[in-house]
Amino acid sequence: MQTISEIKSLRSQIKAWRQQGLSIAFVPTMGNLHAGHFSLVEKAKTLADKVVVSIFVNPMQFGKNEDLDKYPRTLSDDQRGLAELNTDMVFTPSVEVIYPHGLETQAYVDVPSVSQGFCGASRPGHFVGVATIVTKLFNLVQPDFACFGEKDFQQLAVIRTMVKDLSMPIEIIGVPTKRESNGLAMSSRNGYLTIEEKSTAAILYKTLSDTAMAISTGDRRFDTLIEQAKQAIEAKGLKIDYFGIAERDSLQPAQPTDHHFVILVAAFLGSVRLIDNIQVNI
Ligand code: PAF
Repeated sequence: MQTISEIKSLRSQIKAWRQQGLSIAFVPTMGNLHAGHFSLVEKAKTLADKVVVSIFVNPMQFGKNEDLDKYPRTLSDDQRGLAELNTDMVFTPSVEVIYPHGLETQAYVDVPSVSQGFCGASRPGHFVGVATIVTKLFNLVQPDFACFGEKDFQQLAVIRTMVKDLSMPIEIIGVPTKRESNGLAMSSRNGYLTIEEKSTAAILYKTLSDTAMAISTGDRRFDTLIEQAKQAIEAKGLKIDYFGIAERDSLQPAQPTDHHFVILVAAFLGSVRLIDNIQVNI
């Protein structure tokens, strides 16, 4: 497995693969890799001849009071895990390589519709940061496929919309969320939780599952279902950021006549913000 940190070397390797007629699948990450990320790499391997993983903690997607500085950086463990999966290349640029002129004057990509609401409302500027770095990485790696976890459901919707609206020749692949045995969605931020907190946090998936069951058995009292879910989560001591039921593709509030729903939650356990979601297809 090659580790490359400079744009020039990345471009020359990508060019060499292209000249050999090889296809490329790409997995962008911020590192601190866990089984969820590795499942993206496994999926990528089934799609293309070569797999590139990027590790870059992107300052542009963190708000002023968020955890950019303490975000876990575990490069050697990450490299070991990726090498075991026979990843072809890991791209680990520095902030200076990606944003040589700083963030103030950096051009950006905005995907307005699906970025509004949910995490977009709670974290202003977050999806501009995500769309900008993903565009930049796509331009560097020029993949045929790119894999993203469904755990970040709104992020996946933003990327899909961006690729469609800007005619990027890349197929976006959503990969199902990996969960702990108690249902807790795997996330780099779970590393901030104690064992006891991890057990408490399982209420998120339980509540999503209960709400999904109600919808799939015909309950369309969305406001009531949301209220009940919020109460169940808060009863365990978490603080709700949002709990919503939306149409799966537009992320607009669910209507009784919709067929594809997504239920999304974000909640704080202490200072740790956890997100999760579940889909219901009728
Ligand atoms: O999901 C993530 O880890 C990040 O948001 C991404 C897509 C790598 C962009 O920085």
